[in-house]
Amino acid sequence: MTDSRQTTLVLGGTGRTGSLVARKLIGRGLKARTASRHGADVVFDWDDPTTHARALDGVDRVYLVTPVMRVTYAGLVSDFLDLAAGAGVRHVTYLSTYGSDQAPPEVDIRAVELDLARRGALTYSILRPAWVMQNFVDEHVPVVEGAITLPTRGGAEAFVDAADIAAVAVETLVEPDAHAGAEYAPTGPQSLTVSEVADVIAEVTGESVTRNDIDPEAWVGGAVAAGFVPADYAVMLRWLTGTIISGNGSRPNGDIEKVTGRQPTTFQDFARRNAHAWTLQEAK
Ligand SMILES: NC(=O)c1ccc[n+]([C@@H]2O[C@H](COP(=O)([O-])OP(=O)(O)OC[C@H]3O[C@@H](n4cnc5c(N)ncnc54)[C@H](OP(=O)(O)O)[C@@H]3O)[C@@H](O)[C@H]2O)c1
Repeated sequence: MTDSRQTTLVLGGTGRTGSLVARKLIGRGLKARTASRHGADVVFDWDDPTTHARALDGVDRVYLVTPVMRVTYAGLVSDFLDLAAGAGVRHVTYLSTYGSDQAPPEVDIRAVELDLARRGALTYSILRPAWVMQNFVDEHVPVVEGAITLPTRGGAEAFVDAADIAAVAVETLVEPDAHAGAEYAPTGPQSLTVSEVADVIAEVTGESVTRNDIDPEAWVGGAVAAGFVPADYAVMLRWLTGTIISGNGSRPNGDIEKVTGRQPTTFQDFARRNAHAWTLQEAK
């Protein structure tokens, strides 16, 4: 890449990986512009295309976080990528999800991957991370009254720290040519069942934590009924939990070490660092 601007537009810039990607890029001497609807450097709303051109002004690379909690967005993203290429963007690092390469092309998360691969005007890297560990300390899968409610049966997942995903993303954005066309699946170093996650949280907080292995349909229906996700997102919830239930959850691999030179964070270390968050959850 010969462009000297070296400015990254970080979509989802206030989110769990985007905020860290921006901070780490600046630490590496590059410019980063966070973008989201609220509280970022620039206002960016997927549903308001008038915000897109300004966000892209002077940018030569993009950390792509697509609309969250949605199933239909590939057309919107394609239009944005057209605009980005025209505005001088030469590399996109896309935050996809684990196993999306197995999804049919009409599923939007896969359609965006295929769209990127077809474009000649820019290079791309795809990240397909496992479930992030942060799910257990925020509103996604909180500990409520001493229990984690998630329908995963005895299935395991190689939960990964969002900071490790961000570290991989940053390498691809700092040296896009070295990671052009690369596909990485950041995972944690251990496959853990949710019962094992509960045991670790109990150990670091000193509180009793159990797991509630709810019926999958009751869990999905409850999430929709409570307004946590739109009704059409139920299909994604079924897919995300179904892969774990069927024993096809993510498995540890060496991608984080290969790209960053560092070992991925263990759930024990993550839990020790975040023990206060569970104490606060229980105090609510
Ligand atoms: N959660 C996991 O375990 C996991 C695992 C693998 C992959 N992923 C993928 O990672 C991506 C990010 O998910 P996340 O749950 O970690 O979320 P997140 O990045 O922590 O938060 C979402 C970000 O997107 C912004 N955003 C939301 N709606 C937007 C809109 N309409 N226009 C512009 N920006 C918007 C939010 O800011 P504002 O609300 O201020 O706009 C926020 O910065 C998703 O594509 C997900 O599939 C997640």
